[in-house]
Amino acid sequence: HVEHDIDRTQPLYTEEQIQARLAEMARQIEADYEGEDLLLVGVLKGAVMVMADLSRALQRHVEIDWMAVSSYAGTRSSGVVRILKDLDTSLEGRHVLIVEDIIDTGLTLSWLVANLKSRGPASVEVATLLRKPEALEIPVDVKYVGFDIPNAFVIGYGLDFNEKYRNLRSIGTLAEHVYS
Ligand code: PRP
Ligand code: MN
Ligand code: MG
Repeated sequence: HVEHDIDRTQPLYTEEQIQARLAEMARQIEADYEGEDLLLVGVLKGAVMVMADLSRALQRHVEIDWMAVSSYAGTRSSGVVRILKDLDTSLEGRHVLIVEDIIDTGLTLSWLVANLKSRGPASVEVATLLRKPEALEIPVDVKYVGFDIPNAFVIGYGLDFNEKYRNLRSIGTLAEHVYS
């Protein structure tokens, strides 16, 4: 049961805190892209919840597309990224905002930014709900960050441990006995 799983984690951000921060980020994005068309690119699967809520917090028209990439060999991000599902839309001349749930080592994102920039867009920026500054292995320019968090295993609100816990409404750190 979902509530039981919440009991096993240390809470980090409640549903209300997440929504409040996303609303602030939305106001910033609205101001920065005023008068421009905007394409949001979500990175499956973790970014599903952030995309759903951030896009609905935006009081403007946007288009939404998705990519699925794989960079993990075992439990380590390798930086060698494979496209499992590419975009349906061309990026030529478009303002692109990549939407992520979390930036950990930054390896996935730095590859993705370079890949999307090679497609002739007007701009490529990044919005992420969470970032782990201590885990960063490669510098990535991130324009919109929800929260900087400590280097712990976080789950919920799209974030998984072995594909579980994505459907939690809040974000927490996984209790050690769950994964040890
Ligand atoms: C997670 C997360 C980011 C990425 C960050 O995705 O959603 O996309 O890892 O890691 P990095 O900064 O170290 O590259 P994951 O590969 O677990 O796939 P998922 O979104 O389907 O869970
Ligand atoms: Mn992901
Ligand atoms: Mg994952």
